[in-house]
Amino acid sequence: MNTNINNTALPDEAALEKLANELFRQADTGNGIPGQEVVAQQAIPPSVAGSGQSPAGILHGNNINIDNPQTGFPDKNLQDINSSSIAGDSLFSPALRLKEYLPYEADPAHLFNLQAILSLIPVDNGMGLQLPGTVDHALEDVPAYYFLESKPALVSSWGFDAYAVKKDFPILSEHVNGKPLVWLDNAATTQKPQQVIDRISHYYQHENSNIHRAAHELAARATDAYEDARKKVQTFINAGSPNEIVFVRGTTEGINLVAKSWGEQYLQPGDEIIITHLEHHANIVPWQQLADKKGLKLRVVPVDDDGQVLLDEYAKLLNSKTKLVAFTQVSNALGTITPAHTIIELAHQAGAKVLLDGAQSVSHMRTDVRSLNADWFVFSGHKVFGPTGIGVLYGKEDLLNQTAPWQGGGNMIKDVTFEHTEYHNAPTRFEAGTGNIADAVGLGAAIDYVNKLGIDNIALYEHYLLEYATRLLRQVPGLQLIGTAKEKASVLSFTLQGYSNDQVGQALNKEGIAVRTGHHCAQPILRRFGLESTVRPSLAFYNTCADVDLLVATLLQLRAAKR
Ligand code: ALA
Repeated sequence: MNTNINNTALPDEAALEKLANELFRQADTGNGIPGQEVVAQQAIPPSVAGSGQSPAGILHGNNINIDNPQTGFPDKNLQDINSSSIAGDSLFSPALRLKEYLPYEADPAHLFNLQAILSLIPVDNGMGLQLPGTVDHALEDVPAYYFLESKPALVSSWGFDAYAVKKDFPILSEHVNGKPLVWLDNAATTQKPQQVIDRISHYYQHENSNIHRAAHELAARATDAYEDARKKVQTFINAGSPNEIVFVRGTTEGINLVAKSWGEQYLQPGDEIIITHLEHHANIVPWQQLADKKGLKLRVVPVDDDGQVLLDEYAKLLNSKTKLVAFTQVSNALGTITPAHTIIELAHQAGAKVLLDGAQSVSHMRTDVRSLNADWFVFSGHKVFGPTGIGVLYGKEDLLNQTAPWQGGGNMIKDVTFEHTEYHNAPTRFEAGTGNIADAVGLGAAIDYVNKLGIDNIALYEHYLLEYATRLLRQVPGLQLIGTAKEKASVLSFTLQGYSNDQVGQALNKEGIAVRTGHHCAQPILRRFGLESTVRPSLAFYNTCADVDLLVATLLQLRAAKR
């Protein structure tokens, strides 16, 4: 049975407000945990969250003092670590990890207040009014509110413990506005486990060199580390050969590479490129630029009101002029999972090549490029718990070798004369100049970490967490979910009646919750829903039900304040 949110009656105003206030009174005094010291409120201006401005810039009035550069807010906790009580030890020594000083509180008392607030919300399930606060749920082993159970973990039956996992990520022990950080901006970027941080540090301490160019020991170490990372990526996405793995700056650069190399070389005036209405700007603009330059036609597959690709409309767009279909596997703005296998197969039947944007899928589900059969697959390292500035373009080996490089320089050549240059085969033909060696190595460590947890375990856990979050969010009066596809991953875009999206972002930030507000670099799909922006919490495997509860409790408190 599904909860019918349209018929949800509003809770008693005064009671809701009273409970919400109590919730926040407790949250402001250290979440009500006995003995817990309240961390001093940091002076984060309310205008920061969602404003697109740098908090440091606002704090310092944009008067940057070059002799005393400020890259963030004064953080009491960091000052403590630097204080004389631990003088003599390094901030970065393993014994002094931040997490030991900023423990994450896994079970804040607000949960029980949330339960009380929810109990005031009558829910109509289409079969008459249920008892207040009851929600039916199809998944037998997932409680509607996990805190009704004694164990904190949402799903423990197959051993996935998000609380333990969270401890691997030092930044998740940070405090924001005196509250434990709740990172729900995973679609924008993911946080990094200690082993990724350590691996990059190890690289610079013991291996740093340029690669492929020298006979000395460190060149060999750096080259081995870099090529080892390439093999890890190959295995992770099940590519046929490491030669199919090109390191790039990220998804955006990967798509631009294909547009500016293969697209420039092979597309002719009148040819057609198909994208979907869901695409991120990175999978629109390069094709638009190419279309303008070469006289191509860009065609767009529409979506339905849930944000699902309309396959029959797609089939109508395919024809003999279609040379490329470029689409996302998961929408960054709505969370829709597209039917990638079907879209790719239909494109190939029409004789078109396919580029699949895996930026939002790679951390949430198993990637098997051979099974998908896309001609190119792109993703960013920072979205899969690796560093920024490194990403991957997978391409079928023959196709890569039949494509002229887009950038010229060192590393990518076999032989150069003033008359002629002979290029290496892939992947080096597309890796001109000195690449981001350290971060490629860091990406390899991130893949090791994901493999240790198991991508299928991650997918299953996140599926339950998304279900849990969706059910709770549907109960917030005035909240409209944008993107309600049957198949979704990670993303919960919404608007909240009575508030601008920035106001919601600011209020969440005050409670330590990080979400993205804005157009998410996907304006066309938001405009399809008559919007310029949304609030967008997005989940990863280190998020817990407690994170979701705090999000929902904060939204309920906002609503209570408006009534
Ligand atoms: N593409 C990233 C996002 O969706 C930045 O937030």
